[in-house]
Amino acid sequence: MHISPVDKFDKNLSAPPDKSETVRAYIAGAVAEGATVVENPLIAEDTESALHCIRALGADVGRVNDTVVIRSRPIRGEFSLNAGNSATTLRLLTGLLSGIEGVKATIAGDKSLCQRDMSATIEPLRLMGASIEADNNRPPLYITGRKLQNSDYKMPSASAQVKSAILFAALTSGVKARITEPIATRRHTERLMKAMGGEISCIGNTIIFEPSVLTGRKITIGGDLSSAAYPMAAAFLTGGRVTVKGLGYSEERSGFLRVFSRMGAEITRKTTGTDTFGEIEDVSICGKVDRSFIVEADEVPSLIDEIPLLSVAACFAKGRSIIKGASALKNKETNRIATTLQMIKSLGGCAYADSEDSIIIEGAGSLMGGKVCSFGDHRIAMSAVVGLLASERGGETDTDCISVSYPKFTEELL
Ligand code: S3P
Repeated sequence: MHISPVDKFDKNLSAPPDKSETVRAYIAGAVAEGATVVENPLIAEDTESALHCIRALGADVGRVNDTVVIRSRPIRGEFSLNAGNSATTLRLLTGLLSGIEGVKATIAGDKSLCQRDMSATIEPLRLMGASIEADNNRPPLYITGRKLQNSDYKMPSASAQVKSAILFAALTSGVKARITEPIATRRHTERLMKAMGGEISCIGNTIIFEPSVLTGRKITIGGDLSSAAYPMAAAFLTGGRVTVKGLGYSEERSGFLRVFSRMGAEITRKTTGTDTFGEIEDVSICGKVDRSFIVEADEVPSLIDEIPLLSVAACFAKGRSIIKGASALKNKETNRIATTLQMIKSLGGCAYADSEDSIIIEGAGSLMGGKVCSFGDHRIAMSAVVGLLASERGGETDTDCISVSYPKFTEELL
């Protein structure tokens, strides 16, 4: 698709519903007692993959307008599941199924997902006694569900998906889990389980789940901060103004806003209410890029999905920006260190990585534009579109893959 530069990107919009929250609500609904009513779910390829999987597990799923109603049924027998491009679906279901005695399940995904290393998920589940087989730790994963043991796990690296897989395993096996994270990651699973009657608490970076069951209820999904990041960046990089309404806001997800503010953005937040997962806010951004930035490794989990976009933003500052300790990016939908560097080069910018997996961007204050390949990675494609909108000459990128998380992206941004 050809993208022409815009003078100033000015818009008011509502971000699409949160992908992480929607997937969790569906998966919890598949094992909760009674009906789980998910209001305002994201309808995109990744969330449809999650829905497809829980249907295959026997859940009764109904849809009325923007509401999905899930009635769980006992999960028994043999299953072959396809999580598509959704690693969240695959990891959380691996935990959930590992803890159900008598279940035999195979979980696979698309080509990109089947190339991703699942050892960080498999390892703590095996320590609980789970039976998970996989060739080279890549999907398909072959799971034989069984009664697990308590988990007391110090996570070697921060991952909300791994943490959530352990929590779902403890839930279905009826055991205790005590998980300590090196850095706090998104707390969506904890908040959801608590709202559904689960006995779960957090003390600092330690999460404690006591054996308990979930009860179906109404769950409302907020707007997705990670999707909102793209129109916000488009406004900031072009000297425009954007207000995104109805965002599900949490500190563990909003690191990119703090970086934009260090770069010179003016950010205004207005709390408008709360939902199952926390605060709902309207967030506005305007201002002018006037500083480069450094992201320390301990900030990475709070902006993990926005690193390609922040790398584009860094090109519009004059001087060197550094994103430290980004090794987790190598195991995303693509090797996002490699694909981010390639994208910046194709846009006419200069970026490289060092031996410690830091990304270093030499900002020139602008980007020329050019022809960018997304490598089938939605976040690379959306970051490239923003870079092209703010560039001197515009250019081209492929946008089909964006439908996994933000199907209305081109309609809303172009
Ligand atoms: C997600 C957590 C993050 C993020 C992914 C969604 C989640 O992954 O990159 O897009 O829904 O829990 P990790 O927790 O593996 O870093």
